[in-house]
Amino acid sequence: MTNIAVFASGNGSNAVNLVKTFNSGNRIHVALCLTDRENAPVIEKMNELGVETIYFPRNVWKEDPQAILDTLRQRDIKVIALAGFLCFLSEDIVNAYEGRILNIHPSLLPAFGGKGMHGANVHKAVIEAGETKSGATVHVVTNEIDAGPIVVQREVAVLPDDTPESLEAKVHEVEYLIFPEAVMKTVASMTPPAVPKSVDDAWAEALGVPNNVPPVPQKDRQPDNSTTDGPHNPTDSHPLNATAYQPYKTASRQANTAATTTEPMPPTFLVWSVIMTILCCTIPGIVAIIYSAKVSSRFYEGDMEGARRASRNAEIWIIISFVLGVITNTLYIPLSIAGLF
Ligand code: GRF
Repeated sequence: MTNIAVFASGNGSNAVNLVKTFNSGNRIHVALCLTDRENAPVIEKMNELGVETIYFPRNVWKEDPQAILDTLRQRDIKVIALAGFLCFLSEDIVNAYEGRILNIHPSLLPAFGGKGMHGANVHKAVIEAGETKSGATVHVVTNEIDAGPIVVQREVAVLPDDTPESLEAKVHEVEYLIFPEAVMKTVASMTPPAVPKSVDDAWAEALGVPNNVPPVPQKDRQPDNSTTDGPHNPTDSHPLNATAYQPYKTASRQANTAATTTEPMPPTFLVWSVIMTILCCTIPGIVAIIYSAKVSSRFYEGDMEGARRASRNAEIWIIISFVLGVITNTLYIPLSIAGLF
């Protein structure tokens, strides 16, 4: 959440619009309104909206800008929006919030800007000059009046029958659109992009436990296409996060030597699997075949007792082969994962 302050001297319709635009969301909050006029209508409006409002007399604005800055800092104000603020703004404040003070002006700056050009004066001057278009401008405040970089500007048509009042109403309508837009732009330009949490961190936070998996240096990382949080994760390409982010599987694999599908099989695994296959399946299988062959030869020799014995032995070795095969296949993998092979 970014706290902003509104400075206003008058009616405060732009201040109200900013509060209504932002204060129901969770990104920008109008936390403070400062005014230089004790009876400005904006005070009551801000009070109704629950926005803290403080009146500082003009001599404070001029002679004690530190009092204003302290008030802003205590409330963690990051951006200031001047919404019809007609008081002198000290260089100290402008410099302290350089690039973060926005002013709204009711003309297409640089036209009809500068000293004395505010409110009805501007609209009167536009009509008297026979302009066919006017508008509103939000610009960054510098130490020169109405001369800072333009953030957003929008036009309105000036019709032949327009009066200063009707033009003011039209300009106000576009002000309510462009002022929030300019504030959002300014806040977005100051806020570093959010770095998404790694899956480790998200789980650790959800479970309320510390995430102790040590970060793995970038050069040691294995490509891992089996996880959705792997190389496709946008954080991989984020410069702030290039070395800190580790996909969950990569980190946990390094932490506990458990087998996974992507690491090369250690040579001992291969040797053991060949020995086990020969001992448990192949040899009993061959013995069973030999006994099976003996059954028919004994039978044709007329040795019925020998044929029966060979048949029984063939049966036993087939069962042994089958059982050992099942045991090998079902136990070998868990035992090897447990580190016994
Ligand atoms: C607006 O027209 C703004 O452009 C100018 O002062 C006027 C303030 O109007 N700086 P409101 O007090 O916000 O109604």
